[in-house]
Amino acid sequence: MSKVTVWFIRCAMIYFVIAILLGIHMSAAGPVYPYLQIHTHFNLLGWMSMMIFGVAYHILPRFSGRQLWSEKLAYASLYITNIGLLGMALGWILTAKGSGSAVHTLFSVVEGLGIFCFIVNMFKTVKAAPTPPAKK
Ligand code: HEM
Ligand code: HEM
Repeated sequence: MSKVTVWFIRCAMIYFVIAILLGIHMSAAGPVYPYLQIHTHFNLLGWMSMMIFGVAYHILPRFSGRQLWSEKLAYASLYITNIGLLGMALGWILTAKGSGSAVHTLFSVVEGLGIFCFIVNMFKTVKAAPTPPAKK
């Protein structure tokens, strides 16, 4: 497995642990702001999306019989989505204290950029994949 895949899987696991701890906390305390939003997005952008990114970087080039289009762009997506997600969490915490919506908006855009890096890389990787010969 490439290092970028291994790092995405590690990050996914860490977000999963934190999200589950927040979920258990909320089960006792109720849906506490900003834990609900952090729980949701650590689960969906952290655990699920990052696991998918990591696995996709490993599997899709093999499915399409080509090299990954850009290893550098894959690393960019790793760094940018992590900065974006942690910044979004900070933004939600600051918003709960009454002063964080600009921080949240900024890091939401960063997160979107990281996701965009992944999307471009995948489009380019699967594009023009050789078609398997038809069965006779
Ligand atoms: C031990 C595991 C988990 C626990 C204890 C837990 C607990 C909770 C609690 C207490 C809430 C607040 C519910 C409310 O509004 O009253 C919540 C919301 C939510 N959880 Fe979890 N959760 C867990 C795992 C997950 C996982 C694995 C995912 C997704 C992959 C997930 C996605 C969500 C979402 C999307 C919401 C927001 C739902 C809404 O807007 O109403 N949770 N969770
Ligand atoms: C750049 C990426 C994303 C941004 C900036 C973003 C931002 C937001 C914001 C601002 C809210 C409203 C929170 C509030 O009520 O104060 C929200 C809610 C929600 N988002 Fe996202 N989101 C993103 C990606 C996703 C993805 C990929 C999923 C699912 C796979 C998702 C699922 C949800 C759900 C279920 C809620 C309602 C529960 C909650 O309030 O936490 N989001 N999101």
